Amino acid sequence: MEYQRYEHNAAAAELVGRHYDTPPLAFVHSYGCQQNVNDGERIKGVLVDIGYGLCDAPEDADLILFNTCAVREHAEQRVFGNVGALKGLKEKKPGLIIGLCGCMANQKQVVEKLRRSYPYVDLVFGVDGIDTLPALLARKLEEKKRILLEPAQRPVIVEGIPIRRESEFRAWLPIMYGCDNFCTYCIVPYVRGREKSRRPGDILAEFKGLVAAGYKEITLLGQNVNSYGKGLDEEEKMDFSDLLNLLCAVPGDYHIRFMTSHPKDASRKLIDTIAAQPHLCKHLHLPVQCGSDRLLEKMNRHYTVEHYLDLIEYARERVPGITFSSDIIVGFPGETEEDFQGTLDLVRRVGYMQLFTFIYSKREGTPAASYPDPTPRAEKTDRMARLLKTQDEIAMALVKAQVGQTVRVLVEGSGRAEGTLSGRLDNNLTVEFAGEEALLGQYARVKLTGARATVLLGELSV
Ligand code: 5AD
Ligand code: SF4
Repeated sequence: MEYQRYEHNAAAAELVGRHYDTPPLAFVHSYGCQQNVNDGERIKGVLVDIGYGLCDAPEDADLILFNTCAVREHAEQRVFGNVGALKGLKEKKPGLIIGLCGCMANQKQVVEKLRRSYPYVDLVFGVDGIDTLPALLARKLEEKKRILLEPAQRPVIVEGIPIRRESEFRAWLPIMYGCDNFCTYCIVPYVRGREKSRRPGDILAEFKGLVAAGYKEITLLGQNVNSYGKGLDEEEKMDFSDLLNLLCAVPGDYHIRFMTSHPKDASRKLIDTIAAQPHLCKHLHLPVQCGSDRLLEKMNRHYTVEHYLDLIEYARERVPGITFSSDIIVGFPGETEEDFQGTLDLVRRVGYMQLFTFIYSKREGTPAASYPDPTPRAEKTDRMARLLKTQDEIAMALVKAQVGQTVRVLVEGSGRAEGTLSGRLDNNLTVEFAGEEALLGQYARVKLTGARATVLLGELSV
């Protein structure tokens, strides 16, 4: 693995300065997962570094960048719809640069479609190209030709890319990029490439910076954080639990979350670490995808329902009060009613606090795209409705069971009712309570007094 450092591109900054009479404005919108949102924050950082200002409305922008997600078809359609809606704006403002980056841009057929059918898209670059954006923009301003880069993967990690974070108290911190798992439904390994881990020292330095800047919630990101460490040099080799211990040794008032954990690599050592480290949230997002061994094998997940439940049980023993969340795919090709009953059964047995549910979306180029998929759409949506109903009942009961406790929450924003704040518990639940806005971004102690559906209600406790 090659590690590089970002360098300010003075020539590009100078060119941008010369090209516009007043500093140009950029509108950057990110779709998809937190990894992508964090990439969007770095894209903004790089743009500011070469003289752009940032704006919240596409109409005000000289540069519009969509940082896209490819994980499901629906996400892609939304992007094409939003890009299509910019045609009129470009006609009115010919100097406007419209760009697309992120996961969709790492698919050959998407780049081809943009080339053929969206002539007003000027700039396309993939997930590994954020540090090259200044040079691309400079070329675009000089040559005035479209630059649509073909998907390519770079076995490089670029450190020190400037960043404009969206929050002053919650931060995303990537520890690794890419994925080597090749679950048969998933496009991510094709668009985000092979796993590459950041060096522990680089992660620690960024982490210390965040703590010093007053960040309270730091979420470590990776497609599969449990396989952190692959490819590191021998002298700095460590696994994910070692990394957590390294970070937790940093003094300060903060908590750490992480995602996503793959059940095949989630170790007892990891659970022991969660038990031992007060800075780690007592919550585990452990996507199971489905509750049928037959389908788990077809998904190439490398674990069984029994193995998964063993992990959950071990976590419950070692970490009292731990809660779980998961991702579920409904309607994977060939899913039978019996397979689906297995999923319902597993969901009931675990008792998830939250479930992120998706109807299977066919992704061209993945193995599952060629699997027979005879189940009608109506049947899949019916299964989804039944899953959501089951989960709702479980979540309501779990939420109600919290009432009466006094907990520490991070105050994140305003609540729905006038004069209330909204805070988040370790277990990711939200509580609303009366309080002053000055508490925003701070920890507060809240007594949980009731619940409205799956939102807790509470009052400040002193
Ligand atoms: N169809 C539906 N859901 C998918 N996911 C990933 N690929 C697909 C797909 N092709 C879901 C998985 C994953 C989450 C991020 O997105 O549940 O855990
Ligand atoms: Fe979407 Fe996956 Fe890319 Fe995240 S990594 S933006 S979920 S395709």
